Amino acid sequence: MAERAAIILAAGVSSRMNTLMAKVLHEVCGRPMLAYVLDACREVGVTKMYVVVGFSAEQVKVRFDSEDTEWVMQEEQLGTAHAVLCCKEYLKDFEGQTLVLCGDGPLIRARTLKTLIEKHEAEQSSATLATAVLDDPGGYGRIVRDAYGNMQGIVEHSDCTKEQLAIKEVNPSYYLFNNRVLLEALEKIRPDNVKQEYYLTDALAGIIGTGHKVVAVTAVGAEEAMGVNSRRQLSEASKIMQRRIQQVLMENGVTIVDPDNTWIDARARIGQDTVIEPFTYIHGEVEIGQGCRIGPFAYLRHGTVLKNDVVLGVYTEVKNSTLEDGVRARHHSYIGDATMGRNVNMGAGSITANYDGRKVNRTNIGDDCYIGSGAILIAPLEIKDGLNIASGTVVSQESINELGEETKKNVSE
Ligand code: UD1
Ligand code: CA
Repeated sequence: MAERAAIILAAGVSSRMNTLMAKVLHEVCGRPMLAYVLDACREVGVTKMYVVVGFSAEQVKVRFDSEDTEWVMQEEQLGTAHAVLCCKEYLKDFEGQTLVLCGDGPLIRARTLKTLIEKHEAEQSSATLATAVLDDPGGYGRIVRDAYGNMQGIVEHSDCTKEQLAIKEVNPSYYLFNNRVLLEALEKIRPDNVKQEYYLTDALAGIIGTGHKVVAVTAVGAEEAMGVNSRRQLSEASKIMQRRIQQVLMENGVTIVDPDNTWIDARARIGQDTVIEPFTYIHGEVEIGQGCRIGPFAYLRHGTVLKNDVVLGVYTEVKNSTLEDGVRARHHSYIGDATMGRNVNMGAGSITANYDGRKVNRTNIGDDCYIGSGAILIAPLEIKDGLNIASGTVVSQESINELGEETKKNVSE
C-alpha cells in the first residue's frame, strides 16, 4: 500500500464568517469542523496530517494536539497553492501520495476519499480529484473538460468566461497527488488571476501540461461539496450533519419520534430501543443505554451516562452524572454532578443543588431511593440505599446525619 499523507488547508482569514475565532474551530453538531476532516483522513489510512494554519493558529493547535498531526505556519495568506507549498520542508523527500483537503469542509465522507484513492491507483494517474455536480455552482471553481471528457483544468469562479460560468461540475477541493508531481507543479504557479493569489487549482493544468495524467471523478454528493464560508453555511452544514447523525442512530435501533425537532450531538452514543421524544437536546459526550425514554423537552449535557431503562421526562436537565438502570425523573428536575443508584425515583421539580457559589459538589444517591416532589438535595451529599425523602424537603448532609437509623429508612413518615 502506498504511503499516504494529507495536507489540510486551514490558514485563511474568514472575513465572511465575521469571527475572531479560527474558522475551522466553529462547531458543527458539537465538534469543530476540522475534527471531521481529520477523522476522514484517518479512516482512509493517512498516517500524517499537515494542517496549514495562520489566522488564530494557537487556538487551533491547542484544541487538536495529537501525534499524527503536524502544524505548518503560513504567515501570509497568499493563496491555496502557497499554503500547500508551506509544507514543502516536511514533504520534499516523500515518495507517497498526498491528499489535499480544506479544513472548512466538515461534510466530507471517508467513503468519498476511498473512491478517490481507488480511482487514482486504478488509473495510475499523477493527480486525481473528486468533483461534484451542482444545480447552483456559484462560487466554486469549475471543471473544464475537452470534447472527449478529458479534464483540462479548473477555472475559479471569478476568472470564468460566460460559457464557463454555466458549467455545473465543480471542484469541492478533494485532491490526491503523487507527492513529487505536486511539489514540482506548485513551484510553477503564478498569481495571474483576478485575486492575484497563488491558486492550487492551477496545479492541475500545469501537471497536464507536463504530460502527466490527471483524472477527475464525479464522486462527491451535492451536500458533501459544501464548504463553510459563512454563518449561514455553518447552519446548513449543521442541519445536514444532524440528519446524518440521526440516520445512523435510527439504523442502530433508536426511535427518534420527530427528527426535525430533536438535536443530538455527534459525540452522543445511544442504545437500542431507546426512544427520543420531540424537543430533546443532547449536547456533548453523552451515553444512553438501551430501552430508555428521553423527553419530550429533555436537556442532556456533557458527561451524562444513562444505563438501561432510564426514563427522563419533560424539562429534565442532566449534566455530568451517572444514572443506573431504571432511574426515573419524569418532570422538571435538575441532576448535576450526581450518581443515582438503580431504580431511584426523582419526583417532580426535585433538584440537586450542586453549586455552592464557589465550587461544584457531588451528590451520590444509593439504589432504590424515593425522592418526593420539590426536594432540594444540597451537595456534597451521600444518600444510602433505600432512603425515602419527603416532598418539599431541603436535604443537607447534616440533616441526614442527624436522623436515627430508623427514621432514615423513611423520612417521609
Ligand atoms: C477553493 C478553490 C475552489 C473550490 C473551493 C471549494 C482554490 C483557488 N479555489 O475556493 O476551486 O471550488 O475551494 O470549497 O483553491 N487557505 C489557506 N491559505 C490561503 C488561502 C486559503 O490555508 O492562503 C485555506 C482556507 O482557510 C480554506 C481553504 O484554503 O480552508 C480554501 O480557501 P478559500 O479561500 O475558502 O477558497 P475558495 O474561494 O472557497
Ligand atoms: Ca472555501
